[in-house]
Amino acid sequence: MAFPTTRLRRLRTNEKIRDMLTETRIHPSRLVYPMFVDERLNGKKELELMPGQFTYAAGEVGEVASLLEEKGINAVLLFGVPRKKDAGGTQAFSRQGIVQKAIREIRSHSSILIASDLCLCEYTSNGQCGIVKSGSVDNDTTLETYSKIALSHAEAGADIIAPSGMMDGQVAAIRRTLDGNGYGERAVMAYASKSASSFYGPFREAAESAPSDGDRKGYQINYANFRESMHELKLDFDEGADILMVKPALLNLDIIHGARSRFDVPIAAFNVSGEYSMVRAASSAGILDYKQAVLEIATSIFRAGADLLITYHAQELAEWVLQ
Ligand code: PBG
Ligand code: ZN
Repeated sequence: MAFPTTRLRRLRTNEKIRDMLTETRIHPSRLVYPMFVDERLNGKKELELMPGQFTYAAGEVGEVASLLEEKGINAVLLFGVPRKKDAGGTQAFSRQGIVQKAIREIRSHSSILIASDLCLCEYTSNGQCGIVKSGSVDNDTTLETYSKIALSHAEAGADIIAPSGMMDGQVAAIRRTLDGNGYGERAVMAYASKSASSFYGPFREAAESAPSDGDRKGYQINYANFRESMHELKLDFDEGADILMVKPALLNLDIIHGARSRFDVPIAAFNVSGEYSMVRAASSAGILDYKQAVLEIATSIFRAGADLLITYHAQELAEWVLQ
């Protein structure tokens, strides 16, 4: 018998057969668009480090949400930038807070699902994700504040609460608060495996949330640790997280795959700001073809096992894949 008998090229000979045999496809229904809303703005402003992305005034987000919905995108993930910051991050749970306003604005314009990021770093004067007591972020005090934030988001109309602060027990605390206040049907999407990454830089610039001293290594995961990530995912699963998130997505395809194979809940992956800006910069330098690179990255994240992709490229992806 002549070698080779198996010729995989048979199934690659033309566009039709390649299309027919494509294993992983991107669909707009599985994309989530992150949106910044800034209390100090009257109109949208392009983000310097994230060309093509904007931060919005509260009054504008409803219209943007309607547009996303028309493109087939089912959910947004909201981040707020308050006018005033303080040690207790009190604007994070104010009824008149920027995110709470934005949630109501979107709800009155569109039926898109609203996920709200729950953290304190945008709201505390020191930029930490929790309440600082005698020099370090105090886990259990922070949980009390997280519960207040969760309640305020739910009251405003958020469908999905997404705690991102990496405090121990945060999912359980939020679940208990929601259930105890008549919001048992609101979901929790846990930032479960979130590493202390340098790829959040453009986000922190946009949200003005960089820690004024120190870093977040006391609560975010060491990016060298796979097993510790699985442990974090397990705890959030056990605490009742409805959706488990892995972040940053592109850097953690192994962790996405691990999450998918171990936990039978939807897995979300967050293609973060630095990953976005890196592709933008490489494309404008002529190093990458923007569209091809974004399609390859997004497909790879889904292939690794993500059910949902949270990405700043969501609008473009939605247009490209439906063309
Ligand atoms: C808040 C939060 C961050 C991101 C999502 N929620 C920043 C951080 O942890 O420093 C990063 C998102 C991105 O980079 O796109 N804790
Ligand atoms: Zn934070």
